[in-house]
Amino acid sequence: MELENLSHKAAASVWRQAFHIQPKYGLLNDPNGFGWFDGKYHLFYQWFLLGAVHGLKHWYHVTSIDLVNWKDEGVALTPEYDHESHGIFSGSSLASKDKLYLFYTANKRDSDWVRHSSQALAWLNKDGSIEKLEKPLISKPPEGYTDNFRDPKVLKHERMYYMFVGGQTDEQTGCILTYQSNDLSNWLFKGPLGINVERLGFMWECPDVFSIDGKDLLMLSPQGLSSKGHQFQNVYHSGTFIGEHQIAENIFRTAGEFQELDCGFDFYAPQTTLGPDNRRILIGWMDLPDTIYPADVDGWANCLTIPRELSIKQNRLIQKPVAELMKLRQEAYKIEIELVSEQLEIANANGRPVEIHLILTNVGCEQAGIKFNVSEQEETVLLLNFAEGHLVLDRTLAGQPIAEDDGTIRRKPYMETTVELTLFIDTSSVEVFVNQGEAVFTSRLFPNPDSQRLKLFAEDGGCKFDATVWSLGSEFSKELSLNFFQ
Ligand code: FRU
Repeated sequence: MELENLSHKAAASVWRQAFHIQPKYGLLNDPNGFGWFDGKYHLFYQWFLLGAVHGLKHWYHVTSIDLVNWKDEGVALTPEYDHESHGIFSGSSLASKDKLYLFYTANKRDSDWVRHSSQALAWLNKDGSIEKLEKPLISKPPEGYTDNFRDPKVLKHERMYYMFVGGQTDEQTGCILTYQSNDLSNWLFKGPLGINVERLGFMWECPDVFSIDGKDLLMLSPQGLSSKGHQFQNVYHSGTFIGEHQIAENIFRTAGEFQELDCGFDFYAPQTTLGPDNRRILIGWMDLPDTIYPADVDGWANCLTIPRELSIKQNRLIQKPVAELMKLRQEAYKIEIELVSEQLEIANANGRPVEIHLILTNVGCEQAGIKFNVSEQEETVLLLNFAEGHLVLDRTLAGQPIAEDDGTIRRKPYMETTVELTLFIDTSSVEVFVNQGEAVFTSRLFPNPDSQRLKLFAEDGGCKFDATVWSLGSEFSKELSLNFFQ
């Protein structure tokens, strides 16, 4: 009965998303076990069913053949054994011919509330059944490291399996602990990953290790970074090193700084997988730990980002929305105009959910941009401040407040006179892709349901706008009777 009430309450929430993966009720956090197996994408996420709080974690399972329409496969992993008594924490997957192996952290607290973390294994069979080993693969962290020991990423390299676990030294420094195995059952500790960087936070969560375009990447969510210029403004951050990973030697040589993955407000714990066509696809959690969101009172919390295709350009990570999302497009409304110290409402376009493609070209103004989710009281503003050389996302008046102590404006230095912006606006979020994925601003927004208007504006001078607005539909998904589009 309690679950039925929760489910009705969540379904009635005005913040339900139209085209993002969200929990039917309860709390979602990290994406887990993302992989391609048996002709479809499998994606799991951290889920606590009894409300919008971080309680006993399960893995929830969804599948898709096109990264747009997701099928609800139900709960995949439930805590059963003593070593996982306090939750099935995050991890990754590895596909073999007939199984999708699921590596996860088993979380246990003893009677003194001391944490005991181990790394464990389950697998999904082709008939959809899931089995689990009764004992962990790795029962505790090695000497010299704390029980903040979680989120295994496993890969196969030259007939050997490697596991990279997020960790923390006894001196409270974040690190990766590397294990190797030739049979997936017996794991040998190889030592901490050798990486030529100074201390980066006190704990490294959710490592991912992969290669794109001949470069190796080490993606992490380090806890405890201080803000640096416009970077690392949120309470927690995710980023990547690009460099050379000598897997057998357990060394990662970085070529450049730790790049923050997102310039927006709400993004954490991303995971990637290789698609059947060799695209590297990323999905992240579109919220942050230790943060209260307005929908929590409706008995559900959080969602995942849209899938992004990764590539590398000049040693920078490029993230583009996957092309399949174009299936959601319905009517298009186009406008080409020059505005001079004025604003223009796009009256014929729908407010939400929409995709907007916008090219701005400065012809002498101070700043120009787009206001969306607009009403008398509310607006979210995305602008290019040509005078100061900044791209700005401002959610000061976006609706219900979120984490205002960490500020309501995010900026990215930007000196060009023209910019191409792609916005995906859902009921309670926006994802902005800058210049085909050179930067992304990902953010939750909780506007009033009536705040739906769109405006273009140029201040103190002229700016040219070339815009297309597509309303995004749910018909495709309904046809296949797959949910998430309600
Ligand atoms: C990241 C994280 C992971 C952990 C999981 C528990 O958000 O803290 O490190 O495995 O969440 O839900």
